[in-house]
Amino acid sequence: MSIAVTGSTGHLGRRVIAGLKGATDTPIVALARDPAKGADLGVEVRAFDYDSSGTLAPALEGVETLLLISGSELGERSRQHRAVIEAAKEAGVGRVVYTSVLHAPTSTLALAPEHRETEAALAESGLAHTLLRNGWYTENYAPAVSTAMEHGAVFGAAGRGRISSATRDDFAAAAVAALTRPETEGQVFELAGDESWTMDDLAAELTRQTQREIPYRDMSVEEYAGLLQQSGMPEGMAGMIAGMDAEIARGVLHDDSGDLSRLIGRPTTRLSDWVAAQLS
Ligand SMILES: NC(=O)c1ccc[n+]([C@@H]2O[C@H](COP(=O)([O-])OP(=O)(O)OC[C@H]3O[C@@H](n4cnc5c(N)ncnc54)[C@H](OP(=O)(O)O)[C@@H]3O)[C@@H](O)[C@H]2O)c1
Repeated sequence: MSIAVTGSTGHLGRRVIAGLKGATDTPIVALARDPAKGADLGVEVRAFDYDSSGTLAPALEGVETLLLISGSELGERSRQHRAVIEAAKEAGVGRVVYTSVLHAPTSTLALAPEHRETEAALAESGLAHTLLRNGWYTENYAPAVSTAMEHGAVFGAAGRGRISSATRDDFAAAAVAALTRPETEGQVFELAGDESWTMDDLAAELTRQTQREIPYRDMSVEEYAGLLQQSGMPEGMAGMIAGMDAEIARGVLHDDSGDLSRLIGRPTTRLSDWVAAQLS
């Protein structure tokens, strides 16, 4: 019986596969929309496109534990995830671990409803499962750092909202722990960084490390969406990102549960360390 990972060719999936290789002797199966992209993963790769529903159950043959990494096509994910859950049931998968969103039941983020629907589909399926409610990747702020280096300021509409982010490496370590520890069955983890920070803190950290004065320029949602569009982002995406900042300002990404560092057995990556790595 094996452990399988969907989205194995993505940023998070690659890290999970690498982590599993060092953590277990159980055979690992990388499930990939484009198997050629997974040729360098160093484990068995099987074709697995959420949109090819008839092919999903056969690809899960012999899988005991499945990590369902949420898809990247907003608006399509409830249907896609439901197809994967149905296939897992048909194939006799023992447990599904799902990457949801922080505080899914109450989150006001525009992307939360798809995660709520997937959590409900898992509950209805009767499959044993573990919910990893992932907060924000610190890496989401890489463009903000580049912009700050070029234009001398951090821009956003997140006000003083606290962001308990963690790196993809931290979230991948959590997935590895959940996949390799059967006792996490039935558990829900609110995964967020040990440290929470505001956009002012990010600007202050950049100021400290570069020894240049880098302020945070807080804008209205409309102004920020306009700025993102000016920088080449399509209108719909710019509106969505700016709208998420409004939710962040209201605190949707703050969490002090400590679930992530407890699950991975180490502190989460500090913002200052991530910024240093970005700048180097
Ligand atoms: N917590 C956060 O801050 C945050 C930020 C961004 C995204 N996310 C969510 O977390 C997930 C993982 O993050 P990531 O950084 O690894 O994203 P990513 O690099 O975009 O990886 C997404 C993975 O999903 C696969 N995928 C997309 N549509 C698929 C389909 N129809 N069938 C099969 N596989 C499909 C992609 O396959 P290909 O390699 O073929 O494209 C890729 O392997 C994202 O998909 C998204 O749901 C979270």
